Amino acid sequence: MSLMAKHEILEKNSILLLIGILLVVSIGGLVEIAPLFYLKSTIEKVEGMRPYTPLELAGRNVYIREGCYTCHSQQVRPLRDEVERYGHYSLAAESMYDHPFQWGSKRTGPDLSRVGGKYSDEWHVAHLKNPRAVVPQSVMPGYPFLAQADLDLKGLAAHMKALQTVGVPYSEEQIKNAAKDAKVQATLDDPSAADLQGRYPKSTARDYDGNPSRVTEMDALVAYLQMMGTLVDLKLYNDKANLR
Ligand code: HEC
Repeated sequence: MSLMAKHEILEKNSILLLIGILLVVSIGGLVEIAPLFYLKSTIEKVEGMRPYTPLELAGRNVYIREGCYTCHSQQVRPLRDEVERYGHYSLAAESMYDHPFQWGSKRTGPDLSRVGGKYSDEWHVAHLKNPRAVVPQSVMPGYPFLAQADLDLKGLAAHMKALQTVGVPYSEEQIKNAAKDAKVQATLDDPSAADLQGRYPKSTARDYDGNPSRVTEMDALVAYLQMMGTLVDLKLYNDKANLR
């Protein structure tokens, strides 16, 4: 029997054909995908990336809980119009500690991956309470209740521990101080701010929500928004890529 005739058996039996297709596709998949888990160059190392501070992590949890990702992406693509609007395109390393990542492609609102430092804390609080107060034509919903909700500090250490098991390099010291660090970061001029910055470079301790008596979910969300895109010194990359 010639090889072509053997092929006929495969073509006439749909189940056999299906198994054959699955086999071929999975070989292709393995060859392309498996090496990415072992190659060091999959994620180019960049200066400045660190895991989220406990307060930023809590803010990120609020972001996910409230479904902000249904309208906002966190991924600038390497296209001229995106780079002109948002800044340098996203680097893989910038989301290396994200579990789950928030890239997305749905943009009812703008991409947020470089929003840190674009506005003041006061602007964010006013905008989150009622977007129309600062952007009259906005269709974004308001989240005024976040300013009333005390932040759950107790669960943070457990969350960091869980992230540690999937590879986020939190130290035991960082986990032990989770609740304290979150509180310190939401307080202006706290005497322990230096300890926080020792554990998390480029973190700032201040009263994000304008209410010094409480640590609220608003504090956490604004702290998260204000750090987005600020860890990596993008000026270096802009020069390299000859952008802006
Ligand atoms: C229904 C869609 C929708 C949802 C849900 C939504 N947004 Fe927005 N967002 C928008 C739109 C539209 C704009 C642009 C108009 C404006 O600034 O309000 C915007 C703007 C923003 C901006 C300003 C960005 C910039 O560069 O000017 C921030 C920050 C923001 N949203 C954060 C959030 C956060 C945090 C959440 C979740 C708590 C959220 N959004 C949920 C639609 C949405």
